Amino acid sequence: MSNIVIVGTQWGDEGKGKVVDLLAEHADMVVRFQGGNNAGHTMVVEGEQFISHLVPSGILQGKTCFIGNGLVVDPAVLLEEIDYLSSKGVDLSPDKLKISEKAHLIMPYHQAIDHARERMKGDKKIGTTGRGIGPCYEDKATRRGVRFVELLSQAVFREKVATILEEKNFYLKHYMDAETLDLEPILAEYSGYAERLAPYVANVSVVLSDGMQAGGQVLFEGAQGTHLDIDHGTYPYVTSSSTVAGNACSGSGVGPGKITDIIGIVKAYTTRVGEGPFPSELFDDVGDAIQQKGVEFGATTGRKRRCGWLDTVILENAARLNSLSGLAITKLDVLGGLDEVKICTAYDYEGQRLEHFPTDLNVLAACKPIYESHPGWAEDISGIREFEALPENARKYLERIQELAETPIQIVSVGPGRDETIVLDNPYTD
Ligand code: IMP
Repeated sequence: MSNIVIVGTQWGDEGKGKVVDLLAEHADMVVRFQGGNNAGHTMVVEGEQFISHLVPSGILQGKTCFIGNGLVVDPAVLLEEIDYLSSKGVDLSPDKLKISEKAHLIMPYHQAIDHARERMKGDKKIGTTGRGIGPCYEDKATRRGVRFVELLSQAVFREKVATILEEKNFYLKHYMDAETLDLEPILAEYSGYAERLAPYVANVSVVLSDGMQAGGQVLFEGAQGTHLDIDHGTYPYVTSSSTVAGNACSGSGVGPGKITDIIGIVKAYTTRVGEGPFPSELFDDVGDAIQQKGVEFGATTGRKRRCGWLDTVILENAARLNSLSGLAITKLDVLGGLDEVKICTAYDYEGQRLEHFPTDLNVLAACKPIYESHPGWAEDISGIREFEALPENARKYLERIQELAETPIQIVSVGPGRDETIVLDNPYTD
C-alpha cells in the first residue's frame, strides 16, 4: 500500500495539478492539506482545461477528495467551483468531497484586510493573491478563527463573528483607513453557505483512517511550493501556511507513519509570482521566450510569472526539507529549441561560494547565480513516451538534475495533457 505526498520544490506553479491528476488514477482518496484558493491547479484532459483552486485535482479521476483541516476555505469560491465542475459533468456529491470540520473559513474581513495591508505596504508589498489567506491564518493562530464546525451552528457562528467583527472594523477604519463591514449581510450570506455545504462537512481524519484500514491508498496534494513555506521559504515573501511534506500529516489528520513516498515536483526551469528574491531570474529574451512558450501566467491572479533557469540550490533545499523520495520534472518541452540550457548549481555571495540556500534575504538578494551550461535540443519532445527516446541532450539534462538533487526522477512531463508524460517509475504500481 502506498500513501504519497506531492509537494512543489520551487515557488509554486510547478505543475502539481497534472501530476496529482495522473497519479490519482491509482489512489482511492486525494487530500489537500494546506493553503486555500491562492492555489490554482490546471489540468488538461482530452484537450479540455480544468482549473481548480480548492477542490483537489483528484476529483477528475472520480476519487474521493478531501479538504483537510490545514486549509483556509472561502465558501463562496468552493461553491462556485462545485457548480463549475458539476456543470462539466464531474461528480461532486457529498460522497465524493469531504470538508474537514476543523478547516477555517475565510471571511469578508480577511480579504478586506489583505487588500488594505498590501496597499499600505506600497513598494514593500508581498504581492499576495488578495484572497484573504494570510489574515485568515493569522486569526487561526490567535484563536479568533471560525471553523466549519462553528459555521454549522448558527448561534455560535453569530456570536463569534459579531465579537470578531467589532475588532476588525476598528482596525479597518482607524488603522487601515478602509471601509468597515456590516454584520447582518455577512451572517445572511454565510447561513446560505452553511446550508449548502453542511452535507460535505466531516471528520476527515476518521474518514481517511477508515479508508486506509479498508485498503485504500491516499494521495496528499500540496499547494504552493517549498520556498513559499511560512518557515522555510523566503520569509516574509511567502504564503502563510506550511507547504512542506511534514504538514501533509498535520494538515489532514493522518500520522506520519502512514506516508510511504514523497514526490517533489520540479519545473524544468524556475518561475515565481509576486515579490521576493529569485537568484536565477532571467531579464532577457530567453526569459521572455520561456514565459511565452510556457504560458507562464498565474492561474489564480493572471499575473505574468517571473522566469529563470533551473536552480538546484533550491532543489537541494527542497530535497532535504521534504525528504523527497522521487522527482517529477514538468514542462521539459518548454525548453526545446534553446541553444543552451543552464542550471544554477551554487551562488556567489561577495566572492564566497554558497551551496546551501541562505536564510538572510539581504544575502540572498546579493547572491549571483553560478551556472553550468548544457547544450539544448531542437526536437519537439511532446510525442515522446519513453525516456530512451528523448534527444540525448534532454536526457543528459535530466540525468544531471537527478545527480545534483541526489533524488531519482520518476516522472517527466512533456506537455500539458494527461497522456503527455514519461513515467519511469510509478510509486503506486512499482
Ligand atoms: P498569499 O498566499 O495570497 O498570501 O500570497 C503570498 C505569496 O505567495 C505571494 O507571492 C503569492 O504570489 C504567492 N502564492 C500564493 N499562492 C501561490 C500559488 O499557488 N502559486 C504561486 N505563488 C503563490
